[in-house]
Amino acid sequence: MKPSLALKLAFHLSAFFLFSTVLGLALPDLPVYAEGSGDNDSCFACHSNPNLEMEFPSGEVISLYVNKDAYDQSVHGQQGFACTLCHAGTTGYPHEERGELNYRDYSISHYTFCTTCHTDQIKEINKNVHMMALAEGNPAVAVCTDCHGNHYIEIATEALSFISRTCSKCHSEINELYENSIHGAALIGEGNPDVPTCTDCHGAHEIIGPSNYPFHLFSPQICANCHADREMMARYGINPNVFDTYVADFHGKTVSLFQDLAPDQETNKPVCIDCHGVHDMLSPEDSNSQVMKANLLETCRKCHPEATTNFPDSWLGHYNPGPGQLRPVFYVKMIYWILIPILIGGSLVLAISDYVRQLINFKRGL
Ligand code: HEC
Ligand code: HEC
Ligand code: HEC
Ligand code: HEC
Ligand code: HEC
Ligand code: HEC
Ligand code: HEC
Ligand code: HEC
Ligand code: HEC
Repeated sequence: MKPSLALKLAFHLSAFFLFSTVLGLALPDLPVYAEGSGDNDSCFACHSNPNLEMEFPSGEVISLYVNKDAYDQSVHGQQGFACTLCHAGTTGYPHEERGELNYRDYSISHYTFCTTCHTDQIKEINKNVHMMALAEGNPAVAVCTDCHGNHYIEIATEALSFISRTCSKCHSEINELYENSIHGAALIGEGNPDVPTCTDCHGAHEIIGPSNYPFHLFSPQICANCHADREMMARYGINPNVFDTYVADFHGKTVSLFQDLAPDQETNKPVCIDCHGVHDMLSPEDSNSQVMKANLLETCRKCHPEATTNFPDSWLGHYNPGPGQLRPVFYVKMIYWILIPILIGGSLVLAISDYVRQLINFKRGL
C-alpha cells in the first residue's frame, strides 16, 4: 500500500471512530460494567453457606447457596457483575418480604431480570409458543432461566447435544424418540453437526410449533434446508432429489398449492413427516422405519385404506425416471415427450394451413 493511501485510510478510520463514538455507534450492544465489585462479598458472607435454605408457602424448599468460583467463571461473573445488578431490590439484610406462593411463581417473576440487558432476546422470545402459553396462564413453559440457568451461565454452547437435553427437561418423551432417530443418534452418538437438533426445526428463541404456525404444511421446507443440499447429502450417499421429486409428484404438488393459496388450511395430502415420522424418523433400511418396504403399505393405508399389496408400487418414490432407473416409466415418458409435440405441432400446422387455404379461397372468391 502506498504511504499516502495508508495515511488516508488511517485518517478516515479515526474520523469514523471519533464520529461514531459521539453518536454512540461504537459502543457495544450491552452495557459494560466495571471489573470486580467488592460488595458481592457481603452477599457471600451468608450465601456461601451450603445449608442456607428457604421455604415457600407451598412447602417447597430451595437452596440459597451460591458457589463463588462457579459464579466468577460465568459470563456475567467474568464481567464483574455485582449481585445487585440483577437483584436490584435486595441490598441489605433482612431482605424484603416475597409474595410468591411457590417456586415456579418465583422463577416466573425473576426471569425479567435478564430482559433489562438482553433486549434482543426478549423481543425474540415474546412471540414464541412458550410465551404465548404463559400469557394464557400456563406457567410450566420455558423462560430464560429454564434454558440458561441463573448464576452459572456459560457462552451459549457450541456443544449441540446440550440443546436437546435442555428441551428434554420438559419434553422428555419427544427427546427420547429423537435420540433414537437417525438424526438424534448421529448427533448424540457421533457428535455429527450436520443433523438437525430441536432448534434447527423449531428455532431457539423464536420457537414455533403446530399451535402457532401452519407448521405441518410448511415442514417440507425445513427438511429441504439439508436434504436438497447436494454437497451435504453427497457426504452420506443420500439421494439429494427427495424434495424435488416430492414437489413434482401428486402429493407434493397439492401441498405446494396449499402453501401458496390457502396457508391457513390443513391439507389431507402427506408431507414428509406423514410417511417418515416426526421425531422418530429412521433410515428406510431400518426394520422399524415407516417407509421400510415391509411397512410401507401400512403407511399408505393411513390415508388410502383400500390400498392393496402392490399399491405402493404405483408411486415412483423419490426417483426421477431415467435410462438407469425406472426404465419402463422413463421410456413411456420419452414417447410422450416426443409424441405430444409432434401431435400438437402437427395439428397446429394442419389448422393453420387449413385456415390460410380458406382465406386464399375466400379472397379468390371461390
Ligand atoms: C445476613 C445474611 C445474609 C446476607 C448478608 C444476605 N442474605 Fe440473602 N438471604 C439470607 C436469608 C436468611 C435468606 C432467606 C430468606 C429471608 O430470610 O429473607 C436470604 C434470601 C435471599 C434470596 C432469595 C429470596 C429473595 O428475596 O429473592 C436472594 C435472591 C438473596 N438472599 C440475595 C442476596 C443478595 C444479592 C445479597 C447481597 C446484597 C444477600 N442476599 C445478602 C441471608 C442473607
Ligand atoms: C444475571 C442475573 C443475576 C445475577 C448477577 C445474580 N443473580 Fe441471583 N438470581 C437470579 C435469578 C433470575 C434468580 C431466580 C432464578 C430461579 O431460581 O428461578 C436468582 C435467584 C437467587 C437466589 C435464590 C436461589 C435460587 O438460586 O433460585 C439467591 C440466593 C441468589 N439469586 C443470590 C445471588 C447472589 C449472592 C448473587 C451474586 C453472587 C447473585 N444472585 C447474582 C439472577 C441473578
Ligand atoms: C446487567 C446486564 C445483564 C443482565 C441483567 C443479564 N445479562 Fe447476560 N450478559 C450481559 C453481558 C454484558 C454479557 C457478556 C457479553 C456477551 O457475551 O454478549 C452477557 C452474556 C450472556 C450470555 C452469553 C452470550 C453468548 O454470546 O453466548 C448469556 C447466555 C446470557 N448473558 C444470558 C443471560 C440470562 C439468562 C440472564 C438472566 C438470568 C442475563 N443474561 C442477565 C449482560 C447482562
Ligand atoms: C427454550 C430455551 C431457551 C430460552 C427460553 C431462552 N434461550 Fe437463550 N438460547 C437458547 C439456545 C439453544 C441458544 C443457542 C443459540 C442458538 O441455537 O441459536 C441461546 C442463545 C442465547 C444467547 C446468545 C446470543 C444469541 O442470541 O444467540 C443469549 C444472550 C441468550 N440466549 C439469552 C436469553 C435470554 C435473555 C432469554 C430470555 C429472554 C433466553 N435466552 C431464553 C435457548 C433458550
Ligand atoms: C421449562 C419447561 C420447558 C422447556 C425447558 C422447554 N419447553 Fe417447550 N413447551 C413447554 C410447555 C409446558 C409447552 C406447552 C405449551 C402449551 O401449548 O400450552 C411447550 C410447548 C412447546 C412447543 C409447541 C407445541 C405446539 O403444540 O405447538 C414446541 C415446538 C416446543 N415447546 C419446543 C421446545 C424446544 C425446542 C425447547 C428447547 C430449546 C423447549 N421447548 C424447552 C415447556 C418447556
Ligand atoms: C427434523 C425436524 C425436527 C426436529 C429435529 C425436532 N422436531 Fe419437534 N416437530 C417437528 C415437526 C415437523 C412437528 C409437527 C408435527 C405435526 O405437525 O404433526 C414437531 C412437533 C413438536 C412438538 C409439538 C407436537 C408434539 O408432538 O407434542 C413439540 C413439543 C416438539 N416438536 C418438540 C421438539 C423437541 C423438544 C425436539 C428435540 C428433542 C424436537 N421437537 C426436534 C420437527 C422437528
Ligand atoms: C440440519 C440438516 C437436516 C435437516 C433439517 C433434516 N435432515 Fe434428515 N438427515 C440429515 C443428515 C446429515 C442425515 C444423515 C445422517 C447419517 O446418516 O448419519 C439425515 C438422514 C435422514 C434420513 C435417513 C436417510 C438414510 O438413507 O439413512 C431420513 C429419512 C431423513 N433424514 C429425513 C428427514 C426429514 C423428513 C426431515 C424434515 C422433517 C429432515 N430429514 C430434516 C440432515 C438433516
Ligand atoms: C408418500 C410417502 C413419502 C413422502 C411424502 C416422502 N417420502 Fe421420503 N421416502 C419414502 C419412501 C418409501 C422411501 C424409501 C424408498 C426411496 O428411497 O424412494 C423414502 C426415502 C427417503 C430418504 C432416503 C433416501 C436415500 O437415498 O436413502 C430421504 C432422505 C427422504 N425420503 C426424505 C424425504 C423428504 C425430505 C420428504 C419431503 C420433502 C419425503 N421424504 C417425503 C416415502 C415418502
Ligand atoms: C396423509 C395422507 C396420505 C398418505 C400417507 C399417502 N397418501 Fe397418497 N394421496 C393422498 C390423497 C388425499 C390423495 C388424493 C386422492 C384424490 O384426490 O383422489 C392421494 C393420491 C395418491 C395417488 C394418485 C392416485 C389417486 O388415487 O388419486 C397415488 C398413486 C398415491 N396417493 C399413492 C400413495 C402411496 C404409494 C402412498 C404410500 C407410500 C401414499 N399415497 C400415502 C393422501 C395420502
